[in-house]
Amino acid sequence: MAIGQEKNILLDQQEKKVREQLSRIQHKIIVMSGKGGVGKSTVSVNLAVGLSLQDFMVGLLDVDLHGPNIPKMLGVRRERLPRRPDGRLGAISYSPNLKFLSIEPLLPKEDAAVIWRGPLKISAIKQFIGDIDWGKLDYLIIDAPPGTGDEPLTVAKTIPDAYAIVVTTPQEVSLIDVQKSINFCRKVKMRILGLVENMSGFICPHCGKELDIFKRGGGERLAEEMGIRFLGRIPVDPRVVAAGDAGKPAIAAYPESITAQAFEELVRNVVAATEEMWREVEEGRYMRVAVPVSGTNLAKDPLATDLFAVYDIEAGKVRVKDVVRRPEDQDLEAFLKEQVATHLLALDLSPEWKERLETARIRVVLGGAPDMGPDTLVQDFLSGILK
Ligand SMILES: Nc1ncnc2c1ncn2[C@@H]1O[C@H](COP(=O)(O)OP(=O)(O)OP(=O)(O)O)[C@@H](O)[C@H]1O
Ligand SMILES: [Mg+2]
Repeated sequence: MAIGQEKNILLDQQEKKVREQLSRIQHKIIVMSGKGGVGKSTVSVNLAVGLSLQDFMVGLLDVDLHGPNIPKMLGVRRERLPRRPDGRLGAISYSPNLKFLSIEPLLPKEDAAVIWRGPLKISAIKQFIGDIDWGKLDYLIIDAPPGTGDEPLTVAKTIPDAYAIVVTTPQEVSLIDVQKSINFCRKVKMRILGLVENMSGFICPHCGKELDIFKRGGGERLAEEMGIRFLGRIPVDPRVVAAGDAGKPAIAAYPESITAQAFEELVRNVVAATEEMWREVEEGRYMRVAVPVSGTNLAKDPLATDLFAVYDIEAGKVRVKDVVRRPEDQDLEAFLKEQVATHLLALDLSPEWKERLETARIRVVLGGAPDMGPDTLVQDFLSGILK
């Protein structure tokens, strides 16, 4: 067998493992921000612990390959990954329903500097997801490094149905910063769960009350302007730092504190938002429509074409349009699933294929004319001309 061919088979197996793993995880959420140090890791850890305290099965994945700090925040360091009876490695248990994984236990020394190049980072992240047995999970929370680089991009590409939580702070509630994260999400077609404003308001270390010495509330306004959900605000609390350093997240260490309550509200809002996102799809308020194209017109045969115009539609309006090429070895169903498409609009499709896609919960709507462009077909569909 040629080396190239062998490599391809290995890659296919890897992709298959990743897909199998992901199919057992209901909600995948990546926590991101445009700027560093705004509290992504703090939010990720408290959110994961908070969800696990609500009896959800939760996984927490640290994809920050340069400065992993989840193990420290959870107070679990230098633990080896458990090996399953079938030989696969599992994530590390923090509690019966919270598992986590970061690169740290895999490193020879705690402070070993990791120098990763792009392709290596991508395969490491794919291994984190594909090779590790996470079991069945309700939520997988992914703590990303700041910015819109390789790591969030790999997550978005590897986990096409991941949602994003964008974290910001009052100091950084700058339109440009949040806009950057939002633009990134739109570009990679990752749906945004909402915005979190961290370090908003100050908890007095002496009296434990909340003081309003910094301006706050900007996050809520910003979310409204951007048309995304506001998930909550977390005050500045010195105990958050102490709790993080001591390896016990604030939500569990100081359950009575205003800060823990703020995290609990965040947990409730995240649960409600994921359910709402699901309903949006069920009720057609959110759609991702794929249209097979050939040049500027509709393709005659969706099975024979490899080009698709893909539209993200919210509340009856097209938000993003993209043109995506289907890999040669991927069939139509696998491609549409990977695109997380909810609809296929096409000129024609065999009844067998129509049924196959409908079984996979992808609605098929047929219509249009060969000299029509995909935009017109989508507009006809939205205005109800096409049924
Ligand atoms: N609400 C808060 N109150 C007080 N301190 C906080 C709060 N949130 C985060 N911190 C502290 O701010 C620092 C940065 O937080 P964290 O590491 O969570 O940010 P990050 O966005 O993950 O950073 P990076 O971009 O480097 O990954 C930590 O020392 C953390 O303890
Ligand atoms: Mg971090």
